[in-house]
Amino acid sequence: MELSVCQVTKDFGGKRAVDHVTFRLTSGVYGLLGPNGAGKTTLMKMMVDILAPSEGEICLDGVNIHELGAAYRDKLGYMPQEIGVYKNFSARKFLKYIAALKGITGRAADTKIEELLELVGLKDTGRKRLGGFSGGMLRRVGIAQTLLNDPKILILDEPTAGLDPQERIRFRNIISELSENRIVLLSTHIISDMEFIAGEVIIMRDGGVLKIGAIDQLLGEVEGKVWSAFISHEVFHKIKGRYMIGNMIQKNGGVEIRIVGDRQPPFPCEPVRPILEDVFSYYFGGNIS
Ligand SMILES: Nc1ncnc2c1ncn2[C@@H]1O[C@H](COP(=O)(O)OP(=O)(O)OP(=O)(O)O)[C@@H](O)[C@H]1O
Ligand SMILES: [Mg+2]
Repeated sequence: MELSVCQVTKDFGGKRAVDHVTFRLTSGVYGLLGPNGAGKTTLMKMMVDILAPSEGEICLDGVNIHELGAAYRDKLGYMPQEIGVYKNFSARKFLKYIAALKGITGRAADTKIEELLELVGLKDTGRKRLGGFSGGMLRRVGIAQTLLNDPKILILDEPTAGLDPQERIRFRNIISELSENRIVLLSTHIISDMEFIAGEVIIMRDGGVLKIGAIDQLLGEVEGKVWSAFISHEVFHKIKGRYMIGNMIQKNGGVEIRIVGDRQPPFPCEPVRPILEDVFSYYFGGNIS
């Protein structure tokens, strides 16, 4: 199975939201990263055939997904960034309704729904009204809904937004479990989520692909470019703005800072092993969201 995005562009009036994007996905987990407005949601909407590209095409095993139509949708699970639910429905009823829309009914639907409520940890709340659910619980309903038709291609737009740390770990494990023989593409602003589950990362900026590669490969690119230093507040105020400062922790008598750049700073500092956040600091000046 190969999902290929070929020179895909999307214009909204005069605004180019996605600009000649090209990549190919085979089974595995791919992370889509980029600042607000980079074009992630627009690209995903084209990949699920909700939006038509202005230029270029998206193909599954060489056939345009729009031409595949229902045959493509049968293989697809999509979780939009904004999930709309019927507030008066219970999770169980909502899933049953969506299952019916996907053509899954009767015992097959009931069995699948119970299995999914269990998977996302909502078995005990399956009867409560969705109107009383927290943001994280609604995301979990969204994830369950996406999996109803056992999709081979999963496209998830910020699935971990609003999840608490425990839920986030649970979600990451669900995705890892599902990723065998499936294509999973997920977007997030939470870089550490990517480090744990994605094999490859696609970084978007201004509608285009800035970087694409395995996480280790991206880390390799900033190897030797990350330093840690403990400096006084006076020194900090002098160097602020002259260096790309990643993480920073206030400590007694000064600040511990992480610096990312091509040259070693001229004050005492030690080289440290890069993490994915440093890759972002390097390319975006620390401004990811
Ligand atoms: N329907 C639309 N009409 C006009 N402009 C749009 C439309 N949808 C998106 N855009 C613009 O396209 C650009 C990309 O938006 P998109 O939602 O794809 O970004 P994103 O990477 O998903 O951002 P975020 O991280 O905030 O979710 C933005 O400048 C946005 O304002
Ligand atoms: Mg978005």
